[in-house]
Amino acid sequence: MSTVLVFTQFGGPETQEFIDRELPPPGPSQIVVEVRAAGVNPADWKIRAGQMGDHWRLPAPMGREAAGVVTAVGVDVEGISVGDEVVGLAAKGHGTFAQHTMLNAKETVLKPEELSFAEAAALPVAGATAYDVTHQIELEPGQTMLILGAGGGVGLLASQIGKVHEFTVIGVASASKQPIVESTGAAFVASGPGAADRVREIAPDGVDLLIDLVGGQALRDIAEVVRDPQNIVTTADPDTAEQLGGSGVNRTAEGMQKIIEVAQYGLVDPHIGQRFALADAQQAIAAVEGGHTTGKVILEL
Ligand SMILES: NC(=O)c1ccc[n+]([C@@H]2O[C@H](COP(=O)([O-])OP(=O)(O)OC[C@H]3O[C@@H](n4cnc5c(N)ncnc54)[C@H](OP(=O)(O)O)[C@@H]3O)[C@@H](O)[C@H]2O)c1
Repeated sequence: MSTVLVFTQFGGPETQEFIDRELPPPGPSQIVVEVRAAGVNPADWKIRAGQMGDHWRLPAPMGREAAGVVTAVGVDVEGISVGDEVVGLAAKGHGTFAQHTMLNAKETVLKPEELSFAEAAALPVAGATAYDVTHQIELEPGQTMLILGAGGGVGLLASQIGKVHEFTVIGVASASKQPIVESTGAAFVASGPGAADRVREIAPDGVDLLIDLVGGQALRDIAEVVRDPQNIVTTADPDTAEQLGGSGVNRTAEGMQKIIEVAQYGLVDPHIGQRFALADAQQAIAAVEGGHTTGKVILEL
C-alpha cells in the first residue's frame, strides 16, 4: 500500500485528497521507486484545474517528477536495477506526491551522487525546461538574454545556464527576489509597471532574446525591448508569444539528461526555495499556485 495525493475531479484545491492504493508490478518501460523527493510545478495545479485538457482518468495522482530508490523494474528496462538511486518523470497514470510511484524508464536516469535527492528532483521539469528554452534560439557570448519571471523554478536555472554560456543576463522579478536573481550573475530589474523602461536603462539598444516564464500582460508590456520579436520564447503563454511574433518552447528528449549533467558538475544550483513533508503536499501546491515562489518547491520523504 502506498499513500498518494490525487484530485478527484477537475477544479480547485478542495478536489485534492490522499488515498492509499496498491502499485501494480512495473510494466514495460516502467520502474517502481520509493520516493525520497518530489518537485512541485505549476503544471500540478494547472492539470487539476483542467487547464491542460481533460484526458486524465479520475481520481488522478498528482506530481510529475521524483528522485528515489528503485524497488522493481519492468522486464525490458536496461541500465537501471533494484537499489539504484534514480530521478525521472512519472509513468502515465501515476503521480510522484506519494510514498512509492512508477516512473517512465525512458524519462528516468541514474541520480549522480553529487546531487541530493531533493536537488535531483528539482530538475526533470523546471531544469529540463530551462535547458530547452535557453537553447531554442542560440545566442553568442556577450549577447543579451532577458528572463521574465527570473526568480522561479525555471527562471533561476535559465539565468545560470545563460551565465554558463557567457550571455549578458537580465532577470525580471519582484523586489524580494533581487538578491537571489543577482546571485546567478544576472542584472536585476524589478517587475511591474515600467519594467521595459528599466530594462532599457541596462540595455539601451534592446535585448537579443526574451525568455518568458509569465505570459499575459506582463509579457505584452515587456516585449517591445526585444530587437527581433521572433526571439521571444515562452514556457507560459504560447498564444500571446505567437501574437507578438515569437513562439512556445519546444521540449526535447535530451534536456533532462543535459541539465542533470550540468548540475552534477556544479555549474548550476537547482535552488530549492521551500521544502515540505509529503503530508503537507497540499500546502506546497498552494504555495506554487500562488505564483510567487522562489526557486523550486520540493517535497521530501
Ligand atoms: N511548456 C512546458 O514544458 C513547461 C515546463 C515547465 C514550466 N512551464 C510553465 O512555465 C512557467 C514558469 O514555471 P516555473 O516552474 O518557473 O514557475 P514558478 O516557479 O511559479 O515561477 C514563476 C515566477 O514568475 C514570477 N512572476 C509572477 N508574475 C510575474 C510578473 N507579472 N512579472 C514578473 N514575474 C512574475 C513569480 O515570482 P515574482 O512575481 O515574485 O517575481 C515566480 O517566481 C509556468 O507557467 C509553467 O506552467 C511550462
